[in-house]
Amino acid sequence: MKLPLPPLPSALKPPPKPPGETERVPPLEQAKEAGIATADWIDERTSLSGPARWVMFRKVPKGTNWFYTLGSATLFAFLSQAVTGVFLAMYYDPSVTNAYESARHITNDVFLGEFVRGMHKWGSTVMVILICLHMARTFFFGAYKYPRELNWVIGVVLLILTFTMAFTGYLLPFDQRSYWATIVGVNINGTGPIAGPFLSDFLRGGAEFGSTTLSRFYAIHMLLLPGAIIALIGAHLYLVTKLGTTAPPWLKAEGSDGLRDEQV
Ligand code: HEM
Repeated sequence: MKLPLPPLPSALKPPPKPPGETERVPPLEQAKEAGIATADWIDERTSLSGPARWVMFRKVPKGTNWFYTLGSATLFAFLSQAVTGVFLAMYYDPSVTNAYESARHITNDVFLGEFVRGMHKWGSTVMVILICLHMARTFFFGAYKYPRELNWVIGVVLLILTFTMAFTGYLLPFDQRSYWATIVGVNINGTGPIAGPFLSDFLRGGAEFGSTTLSRFYAIHMLLLPGAIIALIGAHLYLVTKLGTTAPPWLKAEGSDGLRDEQV
């Protein structure tokens, strides 16, 4: 155990600072103070600390494990897709004559183009895998039950939108593989009952596969779907924060009423 230091004899105490000279604060302390002052400044004008506390300081049930990180992992995969997608959109040209060439240009000529395109391409697969694993986790842990049914339904819509994102993105390189694979995909959509033919007509932008199809897929891929996904993720996370996390099903129910306390 560390003993307290003996009091300093008054002769050894540093002399008082001459008036006007301020005490030297170490740089780390200064940085901390600056951070606190900035947060205070913003909070005084916005009162955002209340909502921020609500989001960040929540009780989490005992026994949560790595499987509970799959939702956040999906979120980060989506954010990575959004960032890399913005850079790709700076060079990509969604016209039937230039699409393939602009994608080739990104890979071969643009600085880090191949890397960013690779991240976006493989990232889409990663996001699809993660969303499926996250859904499996919430299913097997019974997190879809009361009171989280609505969050499950929002999740199902997010799943469909994520698949549609992957499907519409696949056409964009406009090479032989993406062209023919999309024709097959649109035709499969057309076999659906009642809505099928309308859906395939809508995706093609008419009876024939052509320039309208490509610009339509591009608009859906980079405007419509990301907007809808962002809004739904917002609603999804609001409900996660509001309802709290489900405890793992193998935890014994606590309390004499036999009900599991969600906010242990
Ligand atoms: C873009 C897609 C998605 C994102 C970014 C996302 C994100 C999240 C996050 C961060 C959580 C809290 C942490 C966790 O439990 O893992 C969560 C919880 C949850 N998610 Fe998702 N999710 C997505 C898709 C889905 C899908 C497809 C489903 C099911 C069909 C789903 C159903 C749920 C449910 C029921 C919860 C509550 C879990 C609990 O209370 O234990 N989510 N989601």
